[in-house]
Amino acid sequence: MGALPAEQRIDPSEEQRREVVRRIKEAADIGEIIGEHVTLQRAGANLKGLCPFHSEKTASFMVNPGRGSFHCFGCGEGGDVFNFLMLYHRIAFPEALKQLAERYRIPLAENTLSPQQREEARKRENLYAVNARAAALYHHFLLHDPAAANARAYLEKRGMPPAIISRFQLGYAPERWDFLRRVLEGEKFPAQIAEEAGLLVAKRAEGPNPSPHYYDRFRDRIIFPIVDQTGRVAGFGGRILGNGEPKYLNTPETPVFDKGRTLFGLFQNRDALRKAKSCLLVEGNFDLLALVAQGIDEVTAPLGTALTAEQLRLLRGYVEEVILVFDGDSAGLKAAMRSVPLFLAEKLTGRVAVLPAGEDPDSYIRAHGRESFNELMRQARSLPEFVFDKLAEQHGLGVDGKNRIIAELAPIVHELDDQLLLRTRFIAHFSERLGISSEQFGQSIGRAPHRRPGPAATPPPPGPDRQNFTLSANEGRIFAFLFLHGRYLPEFLAAGLRENASGPTATILLDLMVTHHEKFIRAPEVLLEYTEGGLKSLVSRLLIDGGTMYPEAVQEESASELIAWLRRDDRRRESDQLVREINAAYQAGDQEKLLALMKQKQALSNGG
Ligand code: CTP
Ligand code: MN
Repeated sequence: MGALPAEQRIDPSEEQRREVVRRIKEAADIGEIIGEHVTLQRAGANLKGLCPFHSEKTASFMVNPGRGSFHCFGCGEGGDVFNFLMLYHRIAFPEALKQLAERYRIPLAENTLSPQQREEARKRENLYAVNARAAALYHHFLLHDPAAANARAYLEKRGMPPAIISRFQLGYAPERWDFLRRVLEGEKFPAQIAEEAGLLVAKRAEGPNPSPHYYDRFRDRIIFPIVDQTGRVAGFGGRILGNGEPKYLNTPETPVFDKGRTLFGLFQNRDALRKAKSCLLVEGNFDLLALVAQGIDEVTAPLGTALTAEQLRLLRGYVEEVILVFDGDSAGLKAAMRSVPLFLAEKLTGRVAVLPAGEDPDSYIRAHGRESFNELMRQARSLPEFVFDKLAEQHGLGVDGKNRIIAELAPIVHELDDQLLLRTRFIAHFSERLGISSEQFGQSIGRAPHRRPGPAATPPPPGPDRQNFTLSANEGRIFAFLFLHGRYLPEFLAAGLRENASGPTATILLDLMVTHHEKFIRAPEVLLEYTEGGLKSLVSRLLIDGGTMYPEAVQEESASELIAWLRRDDRRRESDQLVREINAAYQAGDQEKLLALMKQKQALSNGG
């Protein structure tokens, strides 16, 4: 029996996988890829921008194109181009691999993925494929089928020009139970996949071997494909023609569709958003289309849900300011109040524009035109001002009124109990407006009635926990230097870097560097492949540090300076130890030992 059990055999695909990964890393321009999501500016050897993984106003997110690495000095996220895509798009490694392989045309052998990973990636691909097909079918039907005459008339009545219909790939699902089902069947799309994409609904019969019967979810509706950030159709909204209930039918949650993480129009309008650095957020799909039809492209719409932190985070990749556009009759106060902490957390400027009563953006711009609409947007008030003014209007600013305002704000403050900085900022703003001190405000609000179970309103950035991987300041300098000039590693080891390690972190790092020293000296970023979590964060930071702290020119001095420090530090440690022993000998009254130790100490000081 020569064969080993499967798990003991060396998996040839593992080597293959590493090889593909290496080639992709060589080919991929991390600056370009991250630059598609984050505005980056040159900063020496690095690129610098606002971190997409946590809230910040000053840039502490660095990309080192030479090393193919990134690191945020604010939240500690870091890694290579794969890690970035995984974190940013919340995808697994195989999908990041696949995206990059496609982009750089590097053939990806199927067996580079584990069976389960392959299964998941394939499923998502299938969902996107069936969505894309359905979008095309509905679009084609709207444009060309005689049975879509009503739909075309409806869109025309709503002022949708052909350019908009094609740019947003609007469609029409005919009034039939089997339109999509039959076409997909004819094209050999498995019905289960269309079901999982939310396009077909399964009716399962009773009985021993019930084979389900499928029918179309969307019937007699205008179809709005919802496109994700990368341009793929993730789901659909479907509006009834004219009046009826429900007005909209949306794709349910699927592995590729999450309403709270999606914004209608974001993909189509992304260039305009980047350029304007500002985004109008309107409530309805038709509001968005009406504005775009009039040439106002810096607009997105959540899909009928309350604004989420994820949506704001998405927008922060494009803009600095978001203007909430409220219909005249929905006062919007509740929604505005709830969104204040989200804006604070994302450090996005929030403003509020209110349309006259009875108007929404769609009706307003059609009646009054683009200039008048833009004028209203220019008048948008700051979000916290808006909230305060509304509350003051409602309750007045007498003692009673102030107390009621505080009571209304209390639930929001309690949502922030886990995020002290935000809580403080929130209180500071409103207590100033109320003309009371922050302390008074805090006291009036009291403590939270109970700790809310479940996650905080704004979850901390995703990713590794960064427990305890710390270096002393000088070790930080030494390691940053070594990441730049790996060939000095033996010299530093000889000078006692390992023996003087301030904690386990330095030792672990040194072990890694020594184990992979050949690769490390050539390309220190290789350590990203062997680290996880907090250690990976540290490695990505060191990959950035080196470039900023030690310009090539001063490397020789830097080395000797750092080694001198290491030696000095070595002596200091020895001297501290002697002092402790001297004290002990003194306490114990051991004269002889005391004398010997003092001599040693003397010698050490003279040597220094
Ligand atoms: N919505 C939804 N389900 C509903 C009603 C609304 O998902 N039953 C979502 C849709 O995304 C819709 C948004 O909430 O676009 C805002 O609703 P509304 O203002 O009613 O939609 P409009 O697109 O403006 O519709 P219309 O102007 O045609 O009435
Ligand atoms: Mn509307």
